[in-house]
Amino acid sequence: MSGRVRTAGAKNAALPELAAVVLSSGEFHFQDVPGVEDIKVMFLALENLGAEGEFHSNTIRIKIPAIKSPLVPREIVETSRASVLLLGPLVARNGYAKVSTPGGCDIGDRKINYHLEGLKRMGTDISEEKEHIIARAPQPLRAIDYSFPTKTVTGTENLLMAAVLAEGTTILRNCALEPEVGDLIDLLLAMGADIKGKNSETLVITGKSSLTGAAHKVVPDRIEMGTYVIAGCFTGNEIIVENTVPGYVGCLLDVLGKSGMQVTTAADTISVNSNGSIKPIDVETMPYPGYPTDLQAQLTTLLTQADGVSHIKENIFNNRFQHTGELNKMGANIELNGDVSIIRGKTPLTGATLRATDLRASAALVLGGLIAKGTTVIENASQLFRGYENMPQKLNALGADIKVIEE
Ligand code: EPZ
Repeated sequence: MSGRVRTAGAKNAALPELAAVVLSSGEFHFQDVPGVEDIKVMFLALENLGAEGEFHSNTIRIKIPAIKSPLVPREIVETSRASVLLLGPLVARNGYAKVSTPGGCDIGDRKINYHLEGLKRMGTDISEEKEHIIARAPQPLRAIDYSFPTKTVTGTENLLMAAVLAEGTTILRNCALEPEVGDLIDLLLAMGADIKGKNSETLVITGKSSLTGAAHKVVPDRIEMGTYVIAGCFTGNEIIVENTVPGYVGCLLDVLGKSGMQVTTAADTISVNSNGSIKPIDVETMPYPGYPTDLQAQLTTLLTQADGVSHIKENIFNNRFQHTGELNKMGANIELNGDVSIIRGKTPLTGATLRATDLRASAALVLGGLIAKGTTVIENASQLFRGYENMPQKLNALGADIKVIEE
């Protein structure tokens, strides 16, 4: 494959930013919104709450003049756990929220106990009834000083959004540092919120009685970016990834450098060249700025082509190795030992019929299919479209041969 590919806006930024619409009755205009399923589901959830607006060709114009229904139903939460991000804003603005309990996710435990603990401390009465979280709170919420026991991305975002309308000054400690949190803060500041400490582990939020609407361009998706950068590492490929923020994938680029890749970055492009051999490496996933768990599966595919044994330790989720069994069906040699995958390369891959278990695993299987001999069929591929905009089209434009079979 060769050529240029443009990174879309970040799913994991647009999701909390759409949830932030609940905090104000003002008009919002979002640009560079990724056209992926999870965003369409969040848009539906907002319409369910009373939103008026439209979503087309990567722009959203939306407002919620009044909360018509405080309910986020099961069929919405089931499809996209991120709808739990509506809890904080709904309680803050409406004093009442009924959100279906987020179900299990194929990548392991996805607890929200810190989200709920923080809201409780802000004065919210939380109860669980018939698989729904019922949250009631007098208005406004009260400010708190809360330290997250472990870093949580959506936990930080949920309590941050609750705190911007709370009475007094909230201090959130041990916050997540992911760039998506920073982009949400940019939106909230544009809405008139008072937040100090962006991109630091301690956020100081002084509540306001009301916030305005805003216009916002969603930050590029560093996970999609990283996926195409990894695709560029396979022998013979020359891919230039555009609309990037190289700093957001700094850890990935370091790892690729250690595996022998020549990485070239410019203001908003990244390209990699391999001299045909990939060195084995050891990596462990960590909260940002460490190596992202959302790029663990894709790196695994690459390391099946390394000359030797690599190890990947997954520290964030306790069931995020399902892609390894599928890659082994193609001829890879990956063994699991607790939270470590042992990848013995170099193993030629051969096309097979595989099943996508989750979003990032599906991307890893696509990368495997691109370097395998013969044809690979990936079933349950709807997982891919939850978080990658037009991936088959983008890859075909680089010289791949991918078809989507609707079933
Ligand atoms: C966000 O999920 C992302 N999703 C995930 O991306 C990403 O994998 C994850 O952060 C880690 O980077 C969105 O932003 C919408 P966490 P989140 O809370 O916020 C534990 C993708 O592929 N925890 O940071 O749900 C939790 O169990 C998705 O795009 C608690 O114990 O992840 C996990 O082990 C997949 N209690 C760890 O913290 C809590 O209250 C990190 O989870 C919250 C979290």
